[in-house]
Amino acid sequence: MFEPRTIIEPFRVKVVEPLPRRTRAARAEALQEARFNLFALPAAEVTIDLMTDSGTSAMSQEQWAGIMRGDESYAGARSYYRFRDAVRSLTGMKHIVPTHQGRAAERILFTVLGGAGKVVPANTHFDTTRANVEASGAEAVDLVIEEGTHPESEHPFKGDLDVARLDALLAERAGAVPMVVVTVTNNSGGGQPVSLANLRAVRECCDRHDVPLFLDCARFAENAWFIRMREDGHGERTPRDIAEEMFRLADGAWMSAKKDAFGNIGGFLAVNDDGLAEQCRNMLILTEGFPTYGGLAGRDLEALAIGLEEVLEEDYLEYRIRSTAYVWECLDRIGVPLLRPAGGHAVYLEARGFLQHVPPADLPGQSISVALFVEGGVRACEIGTVMFGHTGPDGKQQPGAMDLVRLAIPRRVYTQSHMDYVVEAVAYVYERRASMGGMRIVDEPSALRHFTCGFEPLDWDPLVA
Ligand code: F0G
Repeated sequence: MFEPRTIIEPFRVKVVEPLPRRTRAARAEALQEARFNLFALPAAEVTIDLMTDSGTSAMSQEQWAGIMRGDESYAGARSYYRFRDAVRSLTGMKHIVPTHQGRAAERILFTVLGGAGKVVPANTHFDTTRANVEASGAEAVDLVIEEGTHPESEHPFKGDLDVARLDALLAERAGAVPMVVVTVTNNSGGGQPVSLANLRAVRECCDRHDVPLFLDCARFAENAWFIRMREDGHGERTPRDIAEEMFRLADGAWMSAKKDAFGNIGGFLAVNDDGLAEQCRNMLILTEGFPTYGGLAGRDLEALAIGLEEVLEEDYLEYRIRSTAYVWECLDRIGVPLLRPAGGHAVYLEARGFLQHVPPADLPGQSISVALFVEGGVRACEIGTVMFGHTGPDGKQQPGAMDLVRLAIPRRVYTQSHMDYVVEAVAYVYERRASMGGMRIVDEPSALRHFTCGFEPLDWDPLVA
């Protein structure tokens, strides 16, 4: 019997979008204009865009058909009920509140439950989560297991939360903790999964201290696949069955549906508690919209309901996780320092190992991102000192825990030859690493600085070939 080794894309192409091709000189000009901040680049300058897997998915024919069926009624749209039922059957939660994206759900939740004197522990807070916790006056604490902070560790579940440290925090401050958050997969920690055993242990710890557990579930399906692949006793289960168990261990969840729901926009908040749901809906009406659309069009709700089912198909998840691992393996063979093991939605270059002569305070991840763009037209995203460090009172950069460059892979968008091109571009930059220097921030806003700050190269000129 033919047993192919090649795991093929479980789809074929029906609509094509031309890729921008630019010269190096044109890219250098665009980069200077953007003050070396890749968020400030027009996408038309980018050939392969790996800045994020968020909102960048290709929708399926079923989703596009759903777009036509979208019901745009202000209240009680058919598409809302379809969306509500899809989220409810997946999460098992009673109240389903649509939001226009993940951070809108975060803002509502932490406005209601956060506040001065509160502390919100998580494995690792994503940047918008941390910013929304802190904007409410509360403190955000990251309690990922020790292995999760070591790029070289091969631990299969580096997203796990350190239950002993959580237990100690709750013993000391349970009254000040409105919820414990587990991010699946752990984006800021390298797209690393959380095990079911860990989720069960966190649940048990929350129960002992009477604190609710919330999932930040942007990539729940990828997490479920890793559980099936890596955790003993789950190899025969369907991804859906595993995902349902993950959600049933929690009291609430929010999702950026721009990831594992294949949405170009969207999100939701799901909770069991009636009082909390009412408070959240009141906030929603204030800024997002009526509770049956929450800042989305009916057509978006329709596409998300379909996406939430498609993402749990085994052929899709096998291809998705395998194709990310493929890029990781190609780069590992060349010797490029990587965060280990491969994540779900992205491959992370380990910038401190890549540019050993550039100290973390000189933003090695930003240098690599700039070089990848100018040389190859590949747009990546620094996840390190620019994103998670800060400028100290002495004007020096206080480094983040790690310096990574994320190559996030949009869902169902790029083919293997696109990824082979990316591998070549990274290899080209890696070979020339000795000629690279660091970067310096020249102006920065007070919050989420990575989106808008300007940079300047130190001791090298990335603009010159
Ligand atoms: N939580 C996680 C784990 C995320 O990765 C994101 C977004 C959010 C919450 C916020 O959701 O963007 O819909 O408002 N992550 C994107 C990324 C932006 O590139 O990783 P949002």
